[in-house]
Amino acid sequence: MANFGSDNAAGIHPKIIESIAAASTGTAPAYGTDRLTESVENQLADIFECEVTVLLVGTGTAANCIGLATLCSSVGGIFAHSEAHIVNDESTAPELFTGGARQFTVGGSDAKPSLLELGEAIDMVGARGVHSVQPSVIAISNLTELGARLSAIEVTAYAELAKSRGMKLFMDGARFANAVASGDESPAELTWRAGVDALSFGATKNGAMAAEALIFFNPAEATIAEFHRKRGGHLWSKHRFLAAQFEAYLENDLWLELATASNDSMARLRQGVASSKNASILAGGDGNELFIGMEQDIAKELEQRGHTFYAWPSLPKGYRLVTSFNTTDEEIDEFVDDLT
Ligand SMILES: Cc1ncc(COP(=O)(O)O)c(C=O)c1O
Repeated sequence: MANFGSDNAAGIHPKIIESIAAASTGTAPAYGTDRLTESVENQLADIFECEVTVLLVGTGTAANCIGLATLCSSVGGIFAHSEAHIVNDESTAPELFTGGARQFTVGGSDAKPSLLELGEAIDMVGARGVHSVQPSVIAISNLTELGARLSAIEVTAYAELAKSRGMKLFMDGARFANAVASGDESPAELTWRAGVDALSFGATKNGAMAAEALIFFNPAEATIAEFHRKRGGHLWSKHRFLAAQFEAYLENDLWLELATASNDSMARLRQGVASSKNASILAGGDGNELFIGMEQDIAKELEQRGHTFYAWPSLPKGYRLVTSFNTTDEEIDEFVDDLT
């Protein structure tokens, strides 16, 4: 039976488990001062082709919120799509970490924030001088929350808007690997070359146990970040085990291999769903997330047969299907057979 509930439901890739086990022999300095952490920082600098400041943490929420707190003060405003994870799925962590910065949401197809709405919202919010919230950050996600990939041109347009208003651009990259693997633009082209100031680069959903890298492309802007990490309780003492996960994840481009596997599974699933008269494709499918519309009784029947997936209430009769690096063709074919 298929589990398309979440890529968080997938296991840990064996190479990452081996790397954790290998790091467990002997002793190492704590709190990120170890050799493995330094090695991961160098790997990320190579992959992104620039000098970076890297903070490893164990959850995407921590990576996002430490990043936002670094770029946005307590009197600031963060502008994002209404579907954004930081808006809907991180409780009040963004408010906690930033000390009370306010989030503002806009619409836009495929969960890409509309540039027009962003510009209007930013100008309206900032219009009352000292009485206003200070517009500080535009936050985007790649993949977006509706499974679309942002191109470098699209990212550049957000960066230009942010720059024109004296703001920063933050990217939630919980599925950045899937975005890179589904196009032909490099990690650098999709981030700092397009104007991204900071990225949360996910690994957990794509084969790690619990590891996300918060990456700043302008190290001078990042000095306060490690204090936010410590203050928020996210500085791991046995930090080398976060680094061990990333070392294996990045070595020989395992991250791209795994993302390509989950994207390929999605392409197969998407084709199967497209050929079914019982469902329609509503959004996504660029990476490893697909949003489909179907009647409730069909969804129930699929669930009764043992398939797992979740409703997506913001879309009409919407359901989300997510593949992961270890999704099998058999799972997909069984689901498609049961759907049709
Ligand atoms: C877009 C996005 N950002 C960030 C996260 C990371 O969240 P968590 O704190 O659960 O690791 C997720 C996980 O579902 C996500 O989908």
